[in-house]
Amino acid sequence: MNVLIDLISREVSGAFSKAGFDPAYGKATLSNRPDLCEYQCNGALPAAKVYHKAPIQIATAVKEQLADCEMFESVETVNPGFLNFKLSAEFLAGYVAEMNLAEHFGVQPEQNPRTIVVDYGGPNVAKPLHVGHLRSAIIGESIKRIYRFFGNHVIGDIHLGDWGLQMGLIIAQVQSQHPELCYFDPDYTGEYPEEAPFTISELEKIYPEASARSKVDADFAEKAHNATYLLQQGERGYRAMWKQIMRVSVEDLRKNYENLNVSFDVWLGESDAQAYIPTMLKIVESKHLAVESDGALVVPVQEPTDTKEIPPCILLKSDGATLYATTDLATIVQREQDFHPGKILYLTDKRQSLHFEQVFRVARKAELVPPETELSHIGFGTMNGKDGKPFKTREGGVMRLEVLIREITDYVTEKIKENQTVSDEELPETAKKIAMAALKYGDLSNLATKDYVFDLDRFSSFEGNTGPYILYTVVRIKSILAKYDGVVADCKLLPPESRQQKDLMLVLSRLSDSLISSYKNSAPNEICAYIYELAGAANKFYHDVKIISEPDEAKKASYVALMDLTRRVLETCIDLLGFSAPERM
Ligand code: ARG
Repeated sequence: MNVLIDLISREVSGAFSKAGFDPAYGKATLSNRPDLCEYQCNGALPAAKVYHKAPIQIATAVKEQLADCEMFESVETVNPGFLNFKLSAEFLAGYVAEMNLAEHFGVQPEQNPRTIVVDYGGPNVAKPLHVGHLRSAIIGESIKRIYRFFGNHVIGDIHLGDWGLQMGLIIAQVQSQHPELCYFDPDYTGEYPEEAPFTISELEKIYPEASARSKVDADFAEKAHNATYLLQQGERGYRAMWKQIMRVSVEDLRKNYENLNVSFDVWLGESDAQAYIPTMLKIVESKHLAVESDGALVVPVQEPTDTKEIPPCILLKSDGATLYATTDLATIVQREQDFHPGKILYLTDKRQSLHFEQVFRVARKAELVPPETELSHIGFGTMNGKDGKPFKTREGGVMRLEVLIREITDYVTEKIKENQTVSDEELPETAKKIAMAALKYGDLSNLATKDYVFDLDRFSSFEGNTGPYILYTVVRIKSILAKYDGVVADCKLLPPESRQQKDLMLVLSRLSDSLISSYKNSAPNEICAYIYELAGAANKFYHDVKIISEPDEAKKASYVALMDLTRRVLETCIDLLGFSAPERM
């Protein structure tokens, strides 16, 4: 289906043309004065300068051409030369009825679908998942779903941080506590045990201990560095220990992400990139891009047009050690080889923006991907506490994701209990869904690049611009539909008769426009803004118009069809945001 605003523009452009003016002036926009009209066109104003006529003359001439147009109920000219439109009830109902029957509500898929790698989540193995990784998971999951909705082949890659110093720290710490383990016996040639020598909770304690110790104990720090080096060199026992850390950690990560309704298509990580480092370095070398700087191998990436300093990208340190950028460049080689993507999108904290700028510049210079492949980074802001500082636990520690989810769920559970309408069996699942909506909508409704304040009370309120309010609207609609004694799927939409009904249809008819814009801008916040408006119009409609008690069966059926379409649109949109609605709440 065509986007509504394009259909309107086409009609108005035709009228400009028939009146003797350039059709390019006929672009329509959503009204910024909804009290006066629904759509408007301001093209007569710039046209006036070209045609040396008063704008109102041009607008009037265009209006005359639209006299018999069935799309509009009214066309008005307003000084100095605006054209104001109201859609006809029949045209609007026809458009919405077509949406109701069309696949994907008639939203056109991408004309040129691409393979897109979305690199998100990015947790570091053996370090607990904390709220810093939360935003990447929430925003990345939503963007992945939006890209997929438009027909792209999307590969979500978690890109585990599984190869750095944290691994050496853990190994060194376990070794100092349990030197007797076979992993540390250089003469051991047998099979390594299947069972890991630690549980996830033990593992999670080891890392902070080791990290703290390395800061005060130089000898230990040296051991950790050495262990990292030996691991990366493929030392057998350390590799086996690393595998155990990975197994225990990844199992826990999977649970955590599942809990968050986030799922990855591939679970690759920094360790998987290691095999591609030699190839990457060879390509860089063959193009003579790298230079030596204090013994390190670097690629200068500063451009004359830069307004700020972009430091060279370091590929190898003087001791030959690889860095974050080395791994990311090697990963690009791997992705190009395995997926040949049209786009790679990374989601991290915005403090990594410079890193990605450097990496992308090297990738371009070295032609690691074809020029048409888009490399893009969305750097998001920080989730702050009410004190405006990065979110912490009450004790001031880093909040673990699990704990955060549990706290929100407990809070919501108490809230439901105040006025409980769900059975005790349904309660945990319902609370979980509301908690997810609160958390995810609270995050996604902000522009990703901005910091935001995590406010449990506000986010989980059933009123206002919140996830639970959207769920509440879906649940209300479901309960109305459940009272209808006919077959919902057979209900036909009729032209709107009330303001509330027309307003709801007007918002519904803008779905394509909103989704396309959120897709083009990789901006889930635009979907949030849209569904907030839609939920508002739906609430007004079912509040003011009697639906189930409407005596005229055809009208009642039309109301039911409208409610059901609204529900389906809302449920599709929240699915794109990564959460879902319960049956009751
Ligand atoms: N593990 C990294 C971190 O915790 C994020 C990884 C992001 N992805 C990437 N390809 N660099 O900061």
